[in-house]
Amino acid sequence: MPRDFIITKEHRRFKEFATAVRKEKTIGICHGEAGVGKTLSARRYAHWDEVGTFVDEWGPRSAADAKVQATAHRSRTVFYTPEVLPRHKQIMNEIGHLQTRVGFCIDEHLRTIGKVTGVHVGNVAKLVELVIIDEAERLTPTALELLRDEHDRHELAIIFIGMPGIDQRFRHGRLHRRPSRRRYRENHARQLSFARTSLPPGQASHEDQSTRDHHRRCRRGRREYPRHR
Ligand SMILES: Nc1ncnc2c1ncn2[C@@H]1O[C@H](COP(=O)(O)OP(=O)(O)OP(=O)(O)O)[C@@H](O)[C@H]1O
Ligand SMILES: [Mg+2]
Repeated sequence: MPRDFIITKEHRRFKEFATAVRKEKTIGICHGEAGVGKTLSARRYAHWDEVGTFVDEWGPRSAADAKVQATAHRSRTVFYTPEVLPRHKQIMNEIGHLQTRVGFCIDEHLRTIGKVTGVHVGNVAKLVELVIIDEAERLTPTALELLRDEHDRHELAIIFIGMPGIDQRFRHGRLHRRPSRRRYRENHARQLSFARTSLPPGQASHEDQSTRDHHRRCRRGRREYPRHR
C-alpha cells in the first residue's frame, strides 16, 4: 500500500459496504472499471499490508506481534488474489491457510486481552468473518460453488471483486455452470450496456442483498424442480 493512500469517497463506500457484508454474513460483489481503486480499497480495509505481510512471513515471535494481532482482531478479514487459471483445490487450500493464520492472530489477541484462556478449542479459522477475493473473474464455476458452500456452512461473509460483468455470473445463477458460448455472448452484451447506462465511469458498484436473495431462490428452485433451469 502506498503511503499516500487517499481516503476517497469510493473508499468510504467500499468500507461501508464491506462492513455491512461482514455484519450480515452475506455474499457481496464489488465491480468497477480497471484502475478505480478496488484492490487498494480492499487491501486497506483488510489492513493487508500489515496483516498479510505478517501471515506470509510467519517468522519468529517478536514484541511487534501484539500490534498486528490487534489489527487482525479488528479487521477479521482475509484478502486473497487467485492466480491466473487457478485450480480450485489450491484456491480453497490457500484461503483456508490464510484463515487459519489470521485466526491464530485473532486468537492470540483475544488471549492477550483475557477473552480467551486455556488450550485451543475449536477452529481458529472461524474467527475470520470476511474473505475478500480480488480478480474474481479468474475463479472457475467449481471454485465459486465451493466458496458458496463455505459461505453456507460457516456463515462466512465473502466479497468478490472484479471487472464490470462479474455480477452477471452471479445474478443469472452462473455460480454453478458455465454458460454456453451463445448465452455468454448475449450476457456479455447486456453486461456492457448495463455497465454503461447505470454505472458512471470511475465508480465501483456494490450489491449484496439482491444477490443473496437470488441465490436463495435459485437453490430453492433446484431442490424442488431439479430439472428446471
Ligand atoms: N485511494 C487511493 N489513493 C491513492 N492512490 C490510489 C487510490 N486508489 C487507487 N489509486 C491509484 O490507482 C492505481 C490503481 O488502483 P487499483 O489497483 O486499486 O485499481 P483496481 O480497481 O484494482 O484496478 P484493476 O481493475 O486493474 O485491478 C493504484 O496503483 C494507485 O496508484
Ligand atoms: Mg485490482
